[in-house]
Amino acid sequence: MINKDKNINQKIKDFNIELEQQLASVSSNEQLEKLRITFFGRSGKLTELMDAMKELSLEDKKIFGPALNQLKKESEQNYNNKKNNLEQELRKLEVLKKQQFDVTAYKPGQLEGSQHVLTKVIEQIQDIFISMGYKIADGPELETEFYNFEALNIPKDHPARDSQDTFWFDVPGLLLRTQTSTIQVHQMKTYGAPIAAISTGRVYRQEATDASHDFAFSQYEGFFVDKNISMGNLLATMKTFLQEFFEKKDIEIRVRPGFFPFVEPGIEIDASCPFCKNGCSVCKKTRWIELLGAGLVHPNVLKCCNIDPEKHNGFAFGGGIERLAMIKYGINDIRFLHGANIDFLKQF
Ligand code: DAH
Repeated sequence: MINKDKNINQKIKDFNIELEQQLASVSSNEQLEKLRITFFGRSGKLTELMDAMKELSLEDKKIFGPALNQLKKESEQNYNNKKNNLEQELRKLEVLKKQQFDVTAYKPGQLEGSQHVLTKVIEQIQDIFISMGYKIADGPELETEFYNFEALNIPKDHPARDSQDTFWFDVPGLLLRTQTSTIQVHQMKTYGAPIAAISTGRVYRQEATDASHDFAFSQYEGFFVDKNISMGNLLATMKTFLQEFFEKKDIEIRVRPGFFPFVEPGIEIDASCPFCKNGCSVCKKTRWIELLGAGLVHPNVLKCCNIDPEKHNGFAFGGGIERLAMIKYGINDIRFLHGANIDFLKQF
């Protein structure tokens, strides 16, 4: 009897010591699973102990029954703790691995990537305006009629609202923005005046695709609203922008009247051809290149953005990014910019 007592007692102790030792050395899910089978499996050590109890007398069962139940509870608890800790450790390790993954590591013979020419041009535009104190702003491509038209002073019967130009959604009032001028409204409404921001993004128009048109393309839109802003400020800013962008200090600008409902007066700005003095294929022998639209922000737009036009005024400008890229880099078809021809893209 005493022997048997010792036997079971000893077995419980041994079970605990062994389990503790083995749990401490487990460092993977596979090892943990092996341990589970050894100790808690259907013919594992715990089952063996439970079976041994069946041999005991009723009296002994009363003594060792609770001890064994406690053993079962505690050991399973220890096992579960280990399982949770291991999970956490493995997760941490995974995070560490990702942090230490070196994306710049060089593998011999690997193809080199390069920046897309449009991205390059976008960064050039951003850099120029950041150097003039502008912030970068962004806005959604999925827009409401309000931001795309109404707030920009484009009346209900304006042809720009036509379903031939705009991609409308089935949901009434929702559309794909047709111009990045929408960002003016978001920004002015949110931040008020003074504000100077430059933004770039995709716009969408239902147009037939040819060498110079695509139904999705990119625009930049800049705006500066403060006190006593003049046309002179706008023209000086545009001249600086174009000289910096084409990296030619002698670029001149030419201004023509242009109608855009969200500016008054509205103008179109041409740049003197950066490539010739007497006419070439880029400027189609005219020496001038049409580049962008601009003007002084219409009081209705300011009002719509809760800016008092008696106190503040400003200018806005915008144009196509593909057009800038095509002129600067001598690309003659917009579709190259939107395609994935590696030989073309590799050049930049
Ligand atoms: N949003 C105009 C377009 O898509 C471009 C434009 C013209 C932007 C005049 C302006 C502006 O800010 O003042 O053609």
